[in-house]
Amino acid sequence: MDNIKVKDKEFSIFIKSNEILIRVEQVAQRINIDYKDKNPLFLVVLNGAFMFASDLFKKLTIDCEISFVKLSSYSGTATTEIVKHLIGINEDLKGRNIIVVEDIVDTGITIEHMMEELKKYEPADVKIATLLLKPEKYDKGYAIDYVAIEIPNDFIIGYGLDYDGFARNLPDIYKIV
Ligand code: IMP
Ligand code: MG
Repeated sequence: MDNIKVKDKEFSIFIKSNEILIRVEQVAQRINIDYKDKNPLFLVVLNGAFMFASDLFKKLTIDCEISFVKLSSYSGTATTEIVKHLIGINEDLKGRNIIVVEDIVDTGITIEHMMEELKKYEPADVKIATLLLKPEKYDKGYAIDYVAIEIPNDFIIGYGLDYDGFARNLPDIYKIV
């Protein structure tokens, strides 16, 4: 299926599953080299990154651990500013080598919140692995260390990414028409 409809919007095929898996494996190979004997802890940002994390993790040959986190947004009581709070950390992160696993880095607001929150746990090091990066949009200072695929500034779905909760189950990535 090259064209699909999700709710009110049309999408066309953009990146096929076999191409995604090749790129994911390339990231895994780099991490296998960079993190040999470092026992990294992967922190997977839910919901979108679950599929990427699963395929990535299967290609890792080093000793490593995985855990799943979420940034919950809630409106601060005193201001209208959205406060992001990190939930799901059960491990002691102090002194650990952390790799944050994201589905997509767009504006970078999410990853910025994540990095700020993680600092409080005093890890030894935090790096970022993302399936997708929109370089035209990203304007934050944090280096995005591992990028499987760079894409233009289009809205995409599939392989974990959703439109209004739907389409996360698609093995291929589609872009909006
Ligand atoms: P950022 O905070 O602007 O970098 O956006 C990060 C989050 O927005 C991602 O983790 C996704 O959940 C969502 N997002 C950004 N771009 C897209 C897209 O093209 N399709 C689906 N979700 C997206
Ligand atoms: Mg996300």
